[in-house]
Amino acid sequence: MAGRFEGKTVIITGAAGGIGLAAVTRFASEGASIVAVDLKRSPLDEALAAAKAAGGESIAVDADVSNESDVQRYVAEAVSRFGGVDVLFNNAGIEGAVIPLEEYPLDMFQQVMAVNVNGVFLGMKHAVPALRARGGGAIVNTSSVAGMTGNASISAYVASKHAVVGLTRSGAQAYAGEGIRVNAVCPSPIDTRMMRALEEGLNEDNPAAIKEQMEGIIPAGRYGTPGEVASFVAYLASDEAKFINGGIFPIDGGMTSA
Ligand SMILES: NC(=O)c1ccc[n+]([C@@H]2O[C@H](COP(=O)([O-])OP(=O)(O)OC[C@H]3O[C@@H](n4cnc5c(N)ncnc54)[C@H](O)[C@@H]3O)[C@@H](O)[C@H]2O)c1
Repeated sequence: MAGRFEGKTVIITGAAGGIGLAAVTRFASEGASIVAVDLKRSPLDEALAAAKAAGGESIAVDADVSNESDVQRYVAEAVSRFGGVDVLFNNAGIEGAVIPLEEYPLDMFQQVMAVNVNGVFLGMKHAVPALRARGGGAIVNTSSVAGMTGNASISAYVASKHAVVGLTRSGAQAYAGEGIRVNAVCPSPIDTRMMRALEEGLNEDNPAAIKEQMEGIIPAGRYGTPGEVASFVAYLASDEAKFINGGIFPIDGGMTSA
């Protein structure tokens, strides 16, 4: 496996978070130069250290993925520092509030859509010219099992992750002829900060009970790990997956198989 991304530049958004950090380690360990993007600069120190420990070069860019000029800047920095872009892991996201739909505040709904949908759209929009300049490449978007099924308490998140599926399929249609593939991963609960926040939101007094309940509806009987997501993302981004385009892939221990 070593070396699948030798000489390649990989942009990872949400690189300071659980899944993003695991992706930094995975891609760097396979030879990639990493552009680690997150809202603030200092939490990205861990990503830079992880890339270094895995033997890869990296830079950190603080950028808000919902802001178009920030997105243009992270792509431009990738090109100026490493000469181009081969892979975008469009992964930054927020969960929003855990509130019934009829009580969901519009401003919070819009914030979730801004990060999870506009962020993914803008990443695709501005990475495509850079991928084209390399003669092709891969985009992997992070949707969720919430992009495949509904959920009463997190309607904004569910809507945003369904939209990521639409963007993925549209991008696959648009750029297949240019060797640019766009796929999406749909993780079930994965052990990161985001699940801690959702567990708290669902039961402030006993978040552990929510975890137990969730694990009960995952046939594998547990949450996934960030590394399990990262290894599949790396596969989808690699040339081994070059006939895979427009795919929407659960990584969910069987959760959506029923
Ligand atoms: N953890 C899960 O159970 C799970 C399941 C399915 C999908 N996902 C998705 O996986 C992705 C990564 O989530 P995670 O579990 O690692 O959560 P996380 O909270 O650990 O990481 C998310 C990262 O995105 C960053 N981010 C948020 N808003 C941003 C913005 N506007 N601009 C730039 N960066 C921003 C955060 O600072 C954070 O570092 C998200 O898109 C999430 O929706 C997570």
